[in-house]
Amino acid sequence: MEINTIKTLKDARVLHGETVLDVGSRDCTLAKQFVENGFSVTAIDPHDFSQECDVPGITLYQTTFENFEDNRKFDIVVARLVSHVLKKKPSENILHLMGYAKENGILYFTVFGPEDVWYEGERKEEIDHVIQQAGHTVLAFHELRDTGKTYAGEEKDWHILVYIIQK
Ligand SMILES: C[S@@+](CC[C@H](N)C(=O)[O-])C[C@H]1O[C@@H](n2cnc3c(N)ncnc32)[C@H](O)[C@@H]1O
Repeated sequence: MEINTIKTLKDARVLHGETVLDVGSRDCTLAKQFVENGFSVTAIDPHDFSQECDVPGITLYQTTFENFEDNRKFDIVVARLVSHVLKKKPSENILHLMGYAKENGILYFTVFGPEDVWYEGERKEEIDHVIQQAGHTVLAFHELRDTGKTYAGEEKDWHILVYIIQK
C-alpha cells in the first residue's frame, strides 16, 4: 500500500519545521523522505532496522511507542500504518502522540476504517470527538481505498483514514 504522506502534508501546507518523530518507522522509507525535505528525524521501531535507518539525519531508537520516553517536542509527529500494532485504541494513541508535538505542531496519523479487516472497532465519530475535546484541530481528513499487498505479501483490501491534526 503506497501512501504519499509528503504530498499530503505539502497539499495541507503543513510540511514546515525541522524535526519529525516517526513512530513505527519500519525501514525508514518515510523517514528518508522527510530527510530529503530538510527534516531531522527521530525514528522508533521495536524491530531491528538499524542498517536501513543508518543515514545522516535519522536517529533510530529500537523500542515500542509504549516504552519510548522523551522530553522533546517535534514539529511533525507521524504514525502511519501503525494504529493496529499500538497497544491502546486509536483515540488514546492520538492523544499520546500529540504529547510529542510542539504547540501548533502537526500529527499525521492513519487508522483502519470499518471496511478493513484490521479495523479496530472505534468509530470515526468517537475519534473525532476525542480530538475535539482535547482542543486539537483536524486540518485535513482523507479516506483511502485500495487493493494491494501487506508487508507479509498477502493481498488485502485497504480502507485507511488519514488525519492531519494540529495541536
Ligand atoms: C505496517 S508497518 C508501518 C511502517 C511505516 N510506518 C509505513 O508507513 O510504511 C508497522 C511498524 O510498526 C512497528 N511496531 C510494532 N509494534 C510497535 C509499537 N508498539 N510501537 C511502535 N512501533 C511498532 C513494526 O515493527 C512495523 O515496523
